[in-house]
Parts: sequence; C-alpha cells; structure tokens
Amino acid sequence: MSDGRICMTRPDDWHLHLRDGAALQTTVPHSARCFRRAIVMPNLETPVTSVAAAAQYRARIAEQIPPGADFVPLMTLYLTDTLPVAEIDEAARTPWLAAVKYYPAGATTNSASGVTAIENTWPVLERMEQLDVPLLLHGEVNDAEIDIFDREAVFIDRILQPLVKRFPRLRLVLEHITTREAAQFVAEADARIGATITVHHLLFERSDMLAGGIRPHLYCLPVLKRDLHRKALRAAATSGKRRFFAGTDSAPHPVTQKESACGCAGVYSAPAALELYAEVFEQEQALDRLEGFVSFHGADFYGQERNSECIELVREPWSLPDWHDFSGDRVKPLRAGETVHWQVRDGQSGLARSNAS
Ligand code: NCD
Ligand code: ZN
Repeated sequence: MSDGRICMTRPDDWHLHLRDGAALQTTVPHSARCFRRAIVMPNLETPVTSVAAAAQYRARIAEQIPPGADFVPLMTLYLTDTLPVAEIDEAARTPWLAAVKYYPAGATTNSASGVTAIENTWPVLERMEQLDVPLLLHGEVNDAEIDIFDREAVFIDRILQPLVKRFPRLRLVLEHITTREAAQFVAEADARIGATITVHHLLFERSDMLAGGIRPHLYCLPVLKRDLHRKALRAAATSGKRRFFAGTDSAPHPVTQKESACGCAGVYSAPAALELYAEVFEQEQALDRLEGFVSFHGADFYGQERNSECIELVREPWSLPDWHDFSGDRVKPLRAGETVHWQVRDGQSGLARSNAS
C-alpha cells in the first residue's frame, strides 16, 4: 500500500463526457489510460435520446480505443419531456446501456432539450423504477431567480426530496455534488441513492477560480462553491461510505471557447484524474480508502462486477503538458503545465505522460 506505491484494482469513471467526432481521438485514449469502464454522458450536440443512437455513439467510441486497452463505455440516454416509455424497455434489455440522465432544460452544456418540468417525465420514471434503470441527476434548478451558488441546494429541496418520495424504489445518482447539503442528503438517504464527486471539486473552491484573476479553466457546472463545501466533499469522499464514488465529470472544451467573453463550463480532468484523486486522499491521510472510492463503490452501486485487473500508482512527480490537441483546436487539462505527484505505471495506452499529439 503506502511507501510511495499503491497497487489497486483498476478504477472506473462513473461520470464522463467524451464528446464526439475527432474529439474522441483525444478523450478516449486519455480515459482508457487507467479507467476500465466509464459512464458516458449523452449531452452531444444532438443529444442521445434513443438506444439506437447510443449504439452508434458507442461504436464511434470503440473505434478510438487504443489497441490492447480494455475500456468499456457504458452508455446513457438523455431524458427529455417526450422520451418514449418504450425506450426504457429497450434500455433495460441492453446490457451496455447503464442509465438515463436528467438535465434541467438550459442548465448546462447542450441541455436545451432537457426536462422543462419533472412531472412530464413521470411515466418514464415509473417504468425506470419498475425495470430498475438508474436515473442520473444534474442536480441544479435552472431558475433565473435562484443565485447560481444556491442552485444545487434548492434542487434538493424542490425536486429531489419529492422525487425520492414519489418513486421509493427508483435508483438515483446525484451527480458531481458540490455542497455540504448534497453530501449530507446522500449520506443520510437510503442505499438506492448514490453520488459522484469530481476531483476538481475536491481540489478547488470558488476563490481559486476568482481571486487574483479569473481562471476560466476552473469554471464548471455546478460551479465551485466556498471552501466549507470542499471540505465536506473531502470528508464524504474519504469516509469509506459506499454511496460516494468517483465520477470525474471530465468535460473538455476547446481553449478558444473557454477563454472567451462568455466561456463555457467544463473542466478537462481525464489526463490525470486518478493521480489527482490520489493526491487528495493522501492529503486527507486516507489512501487506504482510495480503492473503495474509485474502484468498488460505483461498480457495486451499478450492480457491475468489480474489475479484476490491478494497476500500480507510484509517488513520482511528472508534469502535465500545457495543452492537448483537440479536434483541430487545443484543450487545457486540469493542472496544465504543472506537477502531479502520483503517476500510473504502465497506463493502458502508453499516454501516461505524453501529449495527445
Ligand atoms: C458539462 C459539459 O461541458 O458537458 N460541463 C460541466 O461544467 N460539468 C456538462 C455538465 O455535466 O454539467
Ligand atoms: Zn457532466
């Protein structure tokens, strides 16, 4: 275990944006480097709203898996006001289709087709409950009257609590939680409710993004909150509780769209996500709980077998490049040009330290 070396079960990423087209040439090798499975978000420019579309997207991802790498994309459907119940039947029959994703309309990147009122989805949610298809929640209200820093906490009161009561057996994941309120809600909820936690919400708080100059590459949704929330998330992630698991929410955007008068939300953490989670757990003196958080809890929640292969993390510093090639543009990884303290020995794609180019 310790002594600057960790051997652990290969981890999974339970919340990931791979994008589409040429971007997959960058994103897929980066995630396949050390993660075995990933829950792939459906918020493409044309959202993935059918099992047939998910199958095509999955095939495009598969083309970019580096030879010899064992990487399994688990696909999701994008919930809309009009998703037919029959798609849920089809999803439940499809082993690689893992869940349905709820975005409130307009809340984040490519969410224009999201849900305008949760009641519109009740017949679909009923079917999901019957067939045990999990619902993944972007847990924010998108309401101009609600301050952006309060949107997650208000979502819990207005949407989540009634949802939990109305559908007592529906499995739910509150994705990328960012507040003490969310961590507390999930910790006290019953076992059918889980939460993913990103590495950037464990590393940063809002002053890191806004004090001494604005850092657009730390802008994501839900937005970074004040430090007390980061501390609560660290406590949850390192608690050993099985309902908290790793989901990077790695969400690349071209540099030109991040460094803009109206920059878009998303942090590209995939190139060093596992190493950065290790850094956090080390700081919290909880390295013995890292494997549970990144390799076991999510698999158990989704009813998937735990991975059998092992990987080795060593405490040897390396530097991330300033950028990676990205679909004819560039993308800045989290920690670009800076030192990372852990590294994966022999990552699957040989991309452990190189630029994607
Ligand atoms: C995500 C994206 O860019 O697709 N952005 C983000 O800031 N997390 C969407 C999302 O998960 O909200
Ligand atoms: Zn996301």
